[in-house]
Amino acid sequence: MGRLDGKVAIVTGAGRGIGQGIARKFLQEGARVVIADKVTDRVEASARELSALGNVVPVPGDVTDENVCQSLVDTAVARFGRLDICVNNAGIVRPTSFLDHSRKDWDDSIAVMLTAVFLLSQRAARAMVKQGKGGVILSTASANGHVAERNCAAYNAAKAGVVLLTQSIAIELADQGIRAVAVSPGYVGPTELMIDGGGSPDFFKDMAAHVPMGRIGRIEEIANLFAFLASDEASFISGASYLIDGAQLSEQR
Ligand SMILES: NC(=O)c1ccc[n+]([C@@H]2O[C@H](COP(=O)([O-])OP(=O)(O)OC[C@H]3O[C@@H](n4cnc5c(N)ncnc54)[C@H](O)[C@@H]3O)[C@@H](O)[C@H]2O)c1
Repeated sequence: MGRLDGKVAIVTGAGRGIGQGIARKFLQEGARVVIADKVTDRVEASARELSALGNVVPVPGDVTDENVCQSLVDTAVARFGRLDICVNNAGIVRPTSFLDHSRKDWDDSIAVMLTAVFLLSQRAARAMVKQGKGGVILSTASANGHVAERNCAAYNAAKAGVVLLTQSIAIELADQGIRAVAVSPGYVGPTELMIDGGGSPDFFKDMAAHVPMGRIGRIEEIANLFAFLASDEASFISGASYLIDGAQLSEQR
């Protein structure tokens, strides 16, 4: 028996990396899953790979588009009859110094990692309210949503926004039985996001040196936390933001 048996989930940014890991874990725990990614080939390949584990439907599209967000919710309801869990996970990183941060990098970062979280969470929550059986809205924030990292102004600001947006959803929808929780990983991977962020063997060694546990996190470790938070075992957890960072932010540097 899986801890998500009978539940239906959406996971964004699930073409690879942490999102694919979350979708994999949800399927292993018995959920049926709609996966989204802006790269069509990537989300289709991811669905083919995951289909051995259970029912998974790929939806290509950019989550900054509210029509794409609505179609994710509609697909979950049309294919699986309901929606119980929504995971906002898609993200990008454009490392640039504050003085050189372009308007485009700022706009793109806020659009994917904050506005899209609002758009999809709202549409998912409306469907959950209509169903009348509650639900869970989970979002991938970041350690950067709690303490700023250099050269990541827009990323830091978007992730901090997710932490407070999560609280806002939690307090406004508690009476509908809808929980909202953010997960704030430290360095995880290596994933392509980190490679886009300047990843080289030295970069990854450097990242690990910032973590008291002496290593970066594994995708499975993040996915395990998502599965717990999505399950009924976490029934009194809402509004929180969980650091999962090998004690990285516990140490003053
Ligand atoms: N890897 C880390 O160290 C780390 C740490 C903390 C937080 N995070 C967060 O975890 C999440 C996943 O990161 P990852 O490391 O797996 O990255 P990744 O680059 O491997 O995967 C992100 C996926 O999101 C998709 N995506 C990006 N913009 C999109 C959009 N507009 N619409 C739909 N899909 C879109 C990409 O195509 C990609 O497949 C992000 O929100 C990231 O900020 C990552």
